[in-house]
Amino acid sequence: MGKIIAISNHKGGVGKTTTSVNLGAGLAKSGKKVLMVDLDPQANLSQCYGITKPETTIYEALKGVEGFKAINVNEGLYLAASSLDLAGAEMELNSEAGREYLLKEVLSPIKDDYEYIIVDCPPSLGLLTLNAFTCADEVIIPIQAHFLAIKGLTKIIEVINKIKRRINPSLEISGVVITLYDKRKILHRDIEETIKTYFQDKVFDIKIRQNIALAEAPSMGLDIFRYSLSSPGADDYWDLTQEFIKRHEQVEE
Ligand SMILES: Nc1ncnc2c1ncn2[C@@H]1O[C@H](COP(=O)(O)OP(=O)(O)O)[C@@H](O)[C@H]1O
Ligand SMILES: [Mg+2]
Repeated sequence: MGKIIAISNHKGGVGKTTTSVNLGAGLAKSGKKVLMVDLDPQANLSQCYGITKPETTIYEALKGVEGFKAINVNEGLYLAASSLDLAGAEMELNSEAGREYLLKEVLSPIKDDYEYIIVDCPPSLGLLTLNAFTCADEVIIPIQAHFLAIKGLTKIIEVINKIKRRINPSLEISGVVITLYDKRKILHRDIEETIKTYFQDKVFDIKIRQNIALAEAPSMGLDIFRYSLSSPGADDYWDLTQEFIKRHEQVEE
């Protein structure tokens, strides 16, 4: 059974897209078949793969205009692209009947073609994110090691709980990833403690350190493993991927 994982935090710049790209690439490198869905109208995930003018976009699929066509970006790795032209699309979708279920309708028929479907959410809790929560099995929340990181998180938890109660009872927060971490900063260590107190064993042991290669890779249209395999960023995302796989295998046992 394919699993849909929403990568979400309504705060921007916390590493959602970086985590989507590199967890997706790490899973494909581990032999899993993966679809990445770029649900952000800013299309950063698509741009990370050098795709700026996709033939079809996820929005056309959501509106039911076009069938869904995934782009094969690497071995075992597929992308449902977005495009910058679609910044107004969320407003249009607002008037669709059953508007929270559009992504579910698009993904349901292909869900079992993949082991994991990773949905990179926009930095808001608007309709697109609600669509992701409606069809997802799990949510992973990347949190930047920053003193304001915890602020506002009650909002996303509230929304997830509402969707769980009203629409999607099996939805779970499966993990919290600490990103942009610098262990030399006492502040970051304090923040890690706070996040762990709050989310307990949901927090991944592996933290993603600040690493310039992670910021450079997208400009070359590459994931971190192809851009710089020896970088700390590649190490961290590889270890995160293995921890992710291990957690899933434990659940299935
Ligand atoms: N661990 C990291 N080290 C250095 N730069 C990072 C790291 N994670 C993300 N970045 C950079 O920070 C910016 C925001 O990250 P991004 O993944 O786009 O966040 P979001 O999708 O949550 O808005 C991007 O320029 C990205 O390349
Ligand atoms: Mg993003």
